[in-house]
Amino acid sequence: MRFPAFATCLALPFLAAACTADDLPDEERTVAPILTSAQAQDEFTYARPLEARVTHVSLDLDLDFEGKRVEGTATLDVDAADDATEIVLDSNGLVIGGITDGNGNALDYEIGEADPDNAGKGEPITVQLGEMTGPALQQIVINYASGPDAEALQWLEPEQTAGGEYPYVFSQGQAILNRTWIPTQDSPGIRQTWEARITAPKPLNVVMSGISRGEPEDVGENRRAFEFVMENSVPPYLIAIAAGNIEFAELGPRSGVWAEPEVLEEAAAELVDTEAMIDAAEEIYGEYRWGRYDMIVLPPAFPYGGMENPVMNFPTPTFIAGDRSNTGLVAHELAHSWSGNLVTYSSWRDGWLNEGVTSYFESRISEAVFGEKRANQEYALSYASLVEAIEEQGADNPNTAMRTPDGISPFDTIGPAIYDKGTVFLRTMETIIGRERFDEFMRGWFDRHAFQPATSEMFLAELREYVVDGDEALEEELMLDEWVYGTGLPENAVAPDAEAFAEVDSAAAAYAADGTLPATETWTGWTGAEQQRFLQELPEELSADELAALNEQLALSDSGNNEVLFLWLEAALRNEYQPAVAQAEEFLAEVGRNKFVAPLFTALWETGSWGRPIATRIYNETRGGYHSYTRGNVDQIVGYEG
Ligand code: BES
Ligand code: ZN
Repeated sequence: MRFPAFATCLALPFLAAACTADDLPDEERTVAPILTSAQAQDEFTYARPLEARVTHVSLDLDLDFEGKRVEGTATLDVDAADDATEIVLDSNGLVIGGITDGNGNALDYEIGEADPDNAGKGEPITVQLGEMTGPALQQIVINYASGPDAEALQWLEPEQTAGGEYPYVFSQGQAILNRTWIPTQDSPGIRQTWEARITAPKPLNVVMSGISRGEPEDVGENRRAFEFVMENSVPPYLIAIAAGNIEFAELGPRSGVWAEPEVLEEAAAELVDTEAMIDAAEEIYGEYRWGRYDMIVLPPAFPYGGMENPVMNFPTPTFIAGDRSNTGLVAHELAHSWSGNLVTYSSWRDGWLNEGVTSYFESRISEAVFGEKRANQEYALSYASLVEAIEEQGADNPNTAMRTPDGISPFDTIGPAIYDKGTVFLRTMETIIGRERFDEFMRGWFDRHAFQPATSEMFLAELREYVVDGDEALEEELMLDEWVYGTGLPENAVAPDAEAFAEVDSAAAAYAADGTLPATETWTGWTGAEQQRFLQELPEELSADELAALNEQLALSDSGNNEVLFLWLEAALRNEYQPAVAQAEEFLAEVGRNKFVAPLFTALWETGSWGRPIATRIYNETRGGYHSYTRGNVDQIVGYEG
């Protein structure tokens, strides 16, 4: 361990952010420390940042829609220890043309073997630094293209867009996918600033998760160049791009939305609360530090609900319900501007530090903007999915710990132990400590570690330092270690308000008892969360007659809310309800959001001889339209072997 973090200020300018000296020049202050503790280690990178690390990435890339690849150069600023002779980068399938130093002198490099136990980790690129030793800033220039199966990038055919006329591309970097299109050290604890110049064919517009610099420039051959810059250091999974026939609508003084013209108006209408959400978030945890807050509402093939790419969040269009009932998603991605983007886990095993803290913060924003009732309902839904997951997995299952076990793919740690247990943990802390004191602590957490990596033990140590402060009774009451490292649900967990779903739950009970359906007006008067709760409480087994009656009374198959429609389709398929198959097929052909797609295929598959041929038939049609993440999951569900 040559460079213990927080120890060396002046000798090692690239660790300068670890120092509290306020008189450092700005450009040095943006270089974030590398944490050296055991908890901070990331097993999914080949990089050895304490020897040599990337501090800045400069991309100069062409989007090649015919070849479905990006091609160009990545210039990396490297900080190397005195005796370092090489730097190790992450890559996955990149096609490397050559590597030079900043002066154009060729550098030796080697592309190593992929780790056979972990395909997603890709293969290391080890670059000899040649004469470039010493602590001074140095550059390496990599000529490259993304490989044919670059998993971060999804290239859409015009048919997969709303307009149907132009191709589209977007990236999804989290967790370890950006190494399929950017050769850098792809680890959340190795923060980097970046800039990019991207060319695309007219009339496509390009957006990135950085501030746009100047107007697009005509570069001939029917192409334009777009420039972006991110001056705050970020974990590299947050570098993101999208390009298509997209237009912009302003939402507020610092916010706006990009989308295809066909969906721009409804997207903007659904997002009218954005500026109020930013204001509310700032009120709770302090200044929004990224400048602009824009979003791009992607085509429905996008595999996630949303992705918190800085200054340009990426939401799915499936959150649009017409009544803003699913905008918790926006609150969530916005909240990541603090938890996740400002302060970031160093290892994927601390997923809760990003996702759990964010889900809690999301509920606070919801409360401030939409009121306590909605926030309480969202908390009750979250609590219910945690309890259900723990029941399913067993209270002693290591996967129910907030700090997840090692050796698990960072894609597979996503789940209730991270999101919902994290939410319930922080809500419990808030309740015991008191909101005011807890908020002060959280604000301090974000301030102390702004633009830096963090770990579970840092969070707990600071809670003890700033809040517990030697109070043994309080320490015992909080059960901190049990929450973070223990399995199951600690006994001090704050249960949701019993009133949150009182009406809906009694309606669900009445239905289960004797088939009494809620009146149509009752149903339509319910919030999105209430409708979801009712559908989640339905009996597992329903006959065709019962499903028909439900659909008749509640018009489920006509719902404009995709969360509701999804729950309906899932219940229908699970119960082999033939009349729902055509709509399910249509839905699965359009929507690639894993949260919907994977469970629908599971529902079909688990019925056995009824649903398996249907699943296979549908999947043969739809597989090509799914992002690699969704495809990977459904491949497993249906045993797809190509
Ligand atoms: N950062 C996540 C998505 C993610 C996590 C991608 C880990 C890859 C690895 C994003 O903020 C998220 O949580 N999305 C949720 C939104 C929901 C909780 C409101 C989703 O996509 O469902
Ligand atoms: Zn999230």
